[in-house]
Amino acid sequence: MYKVASLVLALFAVVYAVPSAYDTVHVWRAGNLSYTVPENAILGGFDPYGYNTYVGRVKYVNDVLPARVVVETGTAYFNTPTASSKLLVYDLLVAERNVNYVWVRSFDGFFEKGLVAAGTTSKNELSFFCRARADAGYLIGTLLLSSQKTCIIKHESLSLRKFDKYEVLVAQPKGNGTLYY
Ligand SMILES: *[C@@H]1O[C@H](CO)[C@@H](O)[C@H](O)[C@H]1NC(C)=O
Ligand SMILES: *[C@@H]1O[C@H](CO)[C@@H](O)[C@H](O)[C@H]1NC(C)=O
Repeated sequence: MYKVASLVLALFAVVYAVPSAYDTVHVWRAGNLSYTVPENAILGGFDPYGYNTYVGRVKYVNDVLPARVVVETGTAYFNTPTASSKLLVYDLLVAERNVNYVWVRSFDGFFEKGLVAAGTTSKNELSFFCRARADAGYLIGTLLLSSQKTCIIKHESLSLRKFDKYEVLVAQPKGNGTLYY
């Protein structure tokens, strides 16, 4: 057991000790407009135009960030505290490893068990998934627990919003299973 525990810790160290890294705790599939959407990709809301959005991630400059992906157009929208943009290359989160992905209510940067991160920023902060109702949509945003403690959402030309009450994406083991981490 001791060996298993230290292996898990070692994994965390490798995954999260470095800035600008992709999360490897969860399973991600590369995506763009040419790829078919995996059956087990995770829906995370809808945008102001009524498109469903999937849970995705992008690498923007040196930050790995949560994204809301409109698969019909192959567009991944993402936010940082200072930037809001879109990319046409992204990863989609898929439900594997005997895990359920659920959205749970949270607030003020509280740490919830099983929080899902896209990866780390250039400042080595974990970039977690959050979402809130905004601008007639249900929009996935970015939660940086150490510096911001709010869910940052900005869609296209709409205004930047910082929610202190929001939902977070959490991984829960199925049945009596245990998570891989
Ligand atoms: C999607 O990615 C594949 C593999 O890298 C590439 O061959 C294809 O041209 C890309 N399609 C688009 C629309 O970017
Ligand atoms: C979980 O474990 C309990 C006690 O061992 C058992 O009664 C129950 O059927 C298990 N549930 C599942 C979903 O495996």
